[in-house]
Amino acid sequence: MQTFRYAVPQVAVHWLAALAVVFLLVTGTFVLADLPNDAGKLGNLAIHMAIGALAGFLVIVRVVLRRRLPAAPAAPSDKLAHAGHMALNLAVLLMAASGMVLALQSGVFDALFGGGALPADFKDFTPRKVHGLVSRLVMAFVALHVLAALYHQLIVKDGLIARMTFGKK
Ligand code: HEM
Ligand code: HEM
Repeated sequence: MQTFRYAVPQVAVHWLAALAVVFLLVTGTFVLADLPNDAGKLGNLAIHMAIGALAGFLVIVRVVLRRRLPAAPAAPSDKLAHAGHMALNLAVLLMAASGMVLALQSGVFDALFGGGALPADFKDFTPRKVHGLVSRLVMAFVALHVLAALYHQLIVKDGLIARMTFGKK
């Protein structure tokens, strides 16, 4: 029998990841990037890095669940939707990876745990440029993803959003 909805763990992971990514995009752009690199930034950085690592980890969980669960829904996802989801996953992974490399290169861990100082400006590091550019890509992908969901919901009227909610099969 065709299952209409994603499985419960997939729905839970989707919305937790969505929350994390939107939080990171907004606070990264409007809070973190504007703060001077003094000791007052450390708490914000720690939160950003922990949630960023979680977001990267959830991509891996999502891909594993998608492959493991026999009831992964087929319709109405098509090739374009699949490509879009892969693009989202890849871009978020790239954010987590570039963030991690940036933190290692610029001595953030030493500042957090060893009493070292933060670099004068993260923008002096190449991974920061990658992180900043890819964040704009993630924003564009998320916007397209939400528009696509709304298009299905309101114009095609196929009840697509219900697939990503808890409920009877
Ligand atoms: C906030 C608004 C969002 C809405 C309304 C939404 C809605 C949906 C819906 C309805 C599906 C199922 C599509 C289908 O059946 O083919 C889906 C799947 C998916 N969404 Fe979202 N989404 C949102 C945010 C996000 C964000 C921020 C991300 C990025 C992390 C994301 C990543 C994904 C992925 C990767 C899938 C594929 C399913 C999977 O592999 O688990 N979504 N979304
Ligand atoms: C999916 C995960 C992540 C997202 C969506 C994200 C998002 C962002 C955004 C939007 C910015 C500001 C970029 C700009 O305005 O140019 C930023 C900056 C930054 N992020 Fe992330 N990030 C993620 C993961 C991480 C991780 C895992 C780390 C470290 C372990 C990290 C470390 C940093 C650092 C050090 C900055 C620089 C802050 C500054 O320039 O003052 N990020 N991030």
